Amino acid sequence: MEDNSATKIEEEDKSSENPEGGESHAEADSHWDLDILGEGQVGRGTMMRTAMGGIALLWGGMTLYPIYSYLKPKASDKDEQTKVTSLEVCKVDELPKGSGRNFRFGSTPALVIHTPDGEIHAFKAICTHLGCTVQYRNDKDAIWCACHGGQYDSHTGKNVAGPPPKPLAPLKAEVVNGKIVVSQA
Ligand code: FES
Repeated sequence: MEDNSATKIEEEDKSSENPEGGESHAEADSHWDLDILGEGQVGRGTMMRTAMGGIALLWGGMTLYPIYSYLKPKASDKDEQTKVTSLEVCKVDELPKGSGRNFRFGSTPALVIHTPDGEIHAFKAICTHLGCTVQYRNDKDAIWCACHGGQYDSHTGKNVAGPPPKPLAPLKAEVVNGKIVVSQA
């Protein structure tokens, strides 16, 4: 007798757990929790990706805009480039033999050299490799680019060592009334 009643109670318990043969309340609840949690996680992930994308865009803009602004020729620079055709750089006495002087020819970096043998030459001081500004080195009697070790002949501007693929652009240098005057070649 006692055994039969125990069996009935067990059956009732099972039917209350799973009244229509489907999943139990506990299982359904746990799935419900997982669905909510899953949706929440996807939502947070999407928000994080969106936020990270926004930050990356902002960072990219902040980094690239100043570079773009720096590289973009300004209207006034263009005007200056077209206006300057000749420039008095300095007195010959101020540039001893075996020395060079960087200056700006309009907006263009330029270089004038008084070579050890007494010749005066001028070039645009823009390296033909990647555009760094070059300068004269009297220990080598050569024009030197510090960026990647490019080297040019101080008399001709010809590329003689390192990565530069072609000579420097020449300018015309002459002495007028004891002053070095540079003009477009
Ligand atoms: S930029 Fe001058 S050697 Fe590279």
